[in-house]
Amino acid sequence: MKIKKDIWNTLEKPFFVLAPMEGVTDIAFRQVIAKAGRPDIFFTEFTNVSSYASEKGRKNALERLKITPSDSPIIAQIWGKNPEHFSELSSALESLGFSGIDLNMGCPDRHVNRAGGGAAMIKTPELAVDCFRRAKNSTNLPVSIKTRLGYTYLNEWKPWLTVLLNEHPAALTVHLRTRKEMSKVPAHFELIPEILKLKKEISPETKLIINGDIKDKTNAKELYEKYPEIDGFMIGRGVFQNPFCFTDHIATKTELLDLLYFHLDKFDEEAKETYHSFEPLKHYFKIYLNNFPGASELRNQLMQTHSTEEVRKILDNQSF
Ligand SMILES: Cc1cc2nc3c(=O)[nH]c(=O)nc-3n(C[C@H](O)[C@H](O)[C@H](O)COP(=O)(O)O)c2cc1C
Repeated sequence: MKIKKDIWNTLEKPFFVLAPMEGVTDIAFRQVIAKAGRPDIFFTEFTNVSSYASEKGRKNALERLKITPSDSPIIAQIWGKNPEHFSELSSALESLGFSGIDLNMGCPDRHVNRAGGGAAMIKTPELAVDCFRRAKNSTNLPVSIKTRLGYTYLNEWKPWLTVLLNEHPAALTVHLRTRKEMSKVPAHFELIPEILKLKKEISPETKLIINGDIKDKTNAKELYEKYPEIDGFMIGRGVFQNPFCFTDHIATKTELLDLLYFHLDKFDEEAKETYHSFEPLKHYFKIYLNNFPGASELRNQLMQTHSTEEVRKILDNQSF
């Protein structure tokens, strides 16, 4: 099949991407980030290909793949280990409105790895290649990969990235740590020049996206000045410190609380369609109740609530 329009080729350098984060970057939160200051590209949380392929799991998989016009262009991130299932889900994603497909080959979660997916793919490169090819041959969309430097040892990076670059993915996101390192050590920025060199030798057309410990746009631009061959930057946990991290803006208390109100509204909209438990929403409160006097007291109060209505009542009594 022919790729119609490769979204990655339409982006100006350096471009910015919101990292896929399971349990965080759902449809409601992506709308929050779009309002605060959008990245150039969104990713969904990862969706299991075998879940989509099963009668029982398909409804849930499609629920995870719900998108809105405000989070477009958006890439569907998928994971698994069954090549046939990669093919099946990949063939459906264009009609669901996605601009690309990303294969997760870096998730360190024990359950995911035991199932042979995520970072476990680093240990099964032939299978990884098979899954990539099956996905690519089943869609017109550009197919990219997100991975880590290795499974256990840092010196795995070169043979592993060579395998992936030989497949000429549309984009390659490298989280600059091994699976074993989880997020416990600083990202290996020192490897950027060698990774850039390898990419240039094997697949110059692949967009290289750097990920790991990049806090915000300013931080990314500093790296870009040092390494102008980098194509894009992916920011994950930076949004926890500052939901405006894709802008140069320093948020005020009023703006942060407005954003929290907006998140509550988006949560309610989603909950109307499918049941959503209120408790996980509390994990987000620290994002908005941060960096202003009285933020932690207000957060403690909100942690005692049981519904979005209760949260709004408390917020309504705040002086802005
Ligand atoms: C809560 C959480 C969930 C994550 N879920 C995913 C995921 O679904 N897919 C993925 O490729 N990476 C996932 N990651 C990894 C991030 O995308 C990113 O690679 C990692 O956090 C390092 O970038 P950062 O330092 O900017 O946060 C997750 C990370 C966190 C903290």
